[in-house]
Amino acid sequence: MNHGKKVVLSAVQPTNQIHIGNYLGAIKNWVQYQNDYDCLFFAVDLHSITSGKVIDPKELRENTYRAIATYVACGIDPNKSTLFIQSQVPQHAELAWVLTCNSSMGELSRMTQYKDKSQKAGAHIPAGLFTYPVLMASDILLYNTHLVPVGEDQKQHLELTRDIAERMNYNYQLEGAKTGEKPLFVVPEPMIQKTGARIMSLQDGDVKMSKSDPTAGACVFLNDSDKEIEKKFKRAVTDSGTEVKAEEQSSGLRNLLQIQACILGEEYNAVLSRYVGKQYGYLKVDTAHIVINAIGPIREKTEEILKDRTELDRILKVGREAARARAEKQLNEVYKRIGFIRE
Ligand code: AMP
Ligand code: TRP
Repeated sequence: MNHGKKVVLSAVQPTNQIHIGNYLGAIKNWVQYQNDYDCLFFAVDLHSITSGKVIDPKELRENTYRAIATYVACGIDPNKSTLFIQSQVPQHAELAWVLTCNSSMGELSRMTQYKDKSQKAGAHIPAGLFTYPVLMASDILLYNTHLVPVGEDQKQHLELTRDIAERMNYNYQLEGAKTGEKPLFVVPEPMIQKTGARIMSLQDGDVKMSKSDPTAGACVFLNDSDKEIEKKFKRAVTDSGTEVKAEEQSSGLRNLLQIQACILGEEYNAVLSRYVGKQYGYLKVDTAHIVINAIGPIREKTEEILKDRTELDRILKVGREAARARAEKQLNEVYKRIGFIRE
């Protein structure tokens, strides 16, 4: 732990594979915070069972290891950041219960992600889908997090987390303390990048690239081969036009330009200006190559790390022990203020 530094925390679900939306919108940005902040990054396996579908346990285990290996391959240094698996720190689920009792049906019903996913779920809506944002709030509040780097889609969950924190800070003030003194939780802020915060499906520029999208070619995964990446970009849906125009771009074209801008660290308009008047095909092929150059080395490194399970397990042990110690301290404080008897 780095005393005095602000806490940065974020996580990705180990459902299916990690895609370029997760990478560009989240993980890529985490790397830069490691020197200046006290960082915690983890794989949220408890979140990955909220769909209500039974996942093959072997697949879940593999994807969880893969998520951690990917973080390391992307540049998360276990010597600088606390790197762990959510279910290995039981305090996440424990605090989630307390937060559930301090949340309302109304505010959870307003979550757009819940509305979308529950509509698709049919008659059987898993209760976990409904309470999932509370578990996310628990992940964040357990470590007195100041900043949470996430994609645009998580903004509403962050707002909910702030509301819960403020409510509990008011309801559970320290005995004898003046109002607002020594609040129970730090109220966290989201950190949302300008570019890359919302990478869209390659098959529909109006929907977010998502792990759960069954459309073939919609997602580019970090472990796709160069060939697969090229094929997906060549087949990316744009519009009925043929060449890029300066005034207006369809959502599909905007997405390709945006992906380039994000990887190259350039302004959208700078990338656009290179393609004005050119055929869509150029943009597609160039984007594929830029993506291949960016994620090819990550893919290779991830595979290498995955081969050494002993080392991965060692990294995870160090991470969970550090996380548990911090989480236990905060949970004790919460339990004490509520009036639960501690040993
Ligand atoms: P998830 O895939 O839901 O576990 O998301 C993990 C992280 O990736 C979160 O910070 C999301 O906001 C971010 N993310 C997911 N999909 C996208 C996307 N299409 N574009 C940008 N960021 C994304
Ligand atoms: N809900 C996030 C997502 O699906 C993942 C997540 C869970 C998370 N807990 C978190 C992100 C805590 C940031 C902080 O993208």
